[in-house]
Amino acid sequence: MPTATSLLSTPRPALKVSRSASGADVVIAALAGTDDEPSVIGLAPKAVKEAETGLGADLATVARRLGASTKLGSTTALPWGSGSIVLVGVGGEDLDDETVRRAAGSAVRAAAELADGRSLKVSLDMGTTTPERVRVAAEGALLGAYRIPRITGQPSTPAIASITVVSQARGAKDELRKAEILADVVTTARDWVNTPANLLYPQTFAASAVERFTGIADTTVDVLDEKALADGGYGGILAVGGGSVRPPRFVRVEYAPAGATTTLALVGKGITFDSGGLDIKTQDGMYTMKCDMGGAAAVLAAVEAIARLGLGVRVVGYAAMAENMPSGSAWRPSDVLTMYGGRTVENANSDAEGRIVMADALARSAEDRPDMVVDISTLTGACMVALGNTWAGLMASSTEAADTLLDASEAAGENFWELPITDEVREGLHSDIADVKSSGARQGGAMAAAAFLQGFVAPDADWAHLDIAGPAFNEGKAHDYTPVGATGFGVRTLVHLAAALAS
Ligand code: BES
Ligand code: MN
Ligand code: ZN
Repeated sequence: MPTATSLLSTPRPALKVSRSASGADVVIAALAGTDDEPSVIGLAPKAVKEAETGLGADLATVARRLGASTKLGSTTALPWGSGSIVLVGVGGEDLDDETVRRAAGSAVRAAAELADGRSLKVSLDMGTTTPERVRVAAEGALLGAYRIPRITGQPSTPAIASITVVSQARGAKDELRKAEILADVVTTARDWVNTPANLLYPQTFAASAVERFTGIADTTVDVLDEKALADGGYGGILAVGGGSVRPPRFVRVEYAPAGATTTLALVGKGITFDSGGLDIKTQDGMYTMKCDMGGAAAVLAAVEAIARLGLGVRVVGYAAMAENMPSGSAWRPSDVLTMYGGRTVENANSDAEGRIVMADALARSAEDRPDMVVDISTLTGACMVALGNTWAGLMASSTEAADTLLDASEAAGENFWELPITDEVREGLHSDIADVKSSGARQGGAMAAAAFLQGFVAPDADWAHLDIAGPAFNEGKAHDYTPVGATGFGVRTLVHLAAALAS
């Protein structure tokens, strides 16, 4: 049996801030302005002079001759001494945080292309003058350096050994540490999601989570196994997990710093593989379903970052882990389940399993008396139809709760779009046999899932529901700081939310 330690784990590049780019194999600078009149805004002055002497012309002229584009994320590599310069377009002169993150990510991906089996030292000069800008540049660079680890008998060399952010800013070290923590946990979330479901399943996922929290101050982790789930009355998680030979787990992690006055509950969907169960998916629909624990990964990663950053807010994370499989012991369409807390649910479709495990977890979270509850899951194909692959859906108990979430996502650089929960869709969940049915009509599927879950949320808490089915897993090409495969989407928004709620 593989253990938690056989899950994927990518090496982290070393990170530092420095006043010069010396010693780097690849030097990254930003290219602003227009394609006809580009200007190089990074590169500490001495390095510019050296480069220009070597090239026999000023860098902007060389960039124009090479046809370098200033379009955001466009990259041009040119040789410099024994290494290279990568010029990355930043679109215009007015940079915002997310532009810096994206440009840094694109540039580091372009630098990695030059590695050719080596492990490169990269320096990144975006002309950053504030500690906050150093942080976002580092975030983009570290996130952009990620690549799906290969599972192979051969040893592999990481393309990026180290990233040095070149900046004259004072006091950047603290901000750099924040970026390092954030990128570290996003990397962990990505590794969990990218790990195939034969290696990562409820037992190994829970064990890996426990391992991550070992030694982190003010945190406690509890894992419920199938026996404890039965004793506790977790009828949803048990039903969904019942079709698999790999039993379900429920992980609760609490971060309780002294003096915190606000409690945030984070609830994540941890379906380690979603075959659809007896309502089995098509081959196309099933292939990427190892990603279906992306919500749980985001919750665990976010709580870890919040604790390591020492934010002044109590946070309780819940990860509902199960494998949804068809078998002789699988839950059936039309089964009636008794959920944690006693409400009954008619199973409309065994492929609507996420909301079932989430309902148990949400009901349990009410006992921790949260001021705000946020659930996050790769929940519905309908949300992807509505918003595509780079935007997540947001549904909330109030405009205020939605705005709190949108502000956090803006600071984090993740895109959410608010959808309503209509009365029509709520009524569609009427069941003739149970308290509620798990889904209704095909139309409005993202809203129906939200309406269903709202019935399990603490009634006095603010609530936001995040459907990350689209952006959690990138089946297309890498772009900006977003790699192919798992993206770690949602982690950064949850951390920014906790920071906003902290006292
Ligand atoms: N895990 C899927 C949703 C999903 C689809 C996530 C594609 C990421 C990419 C979820 O469990 C599911 O199957 N939802 C069904 C619900 C329906 C049966 C009510 C769906 O969206 O089709
Ligand atoms: Mn499903
Ligand atoms: Zn699912």
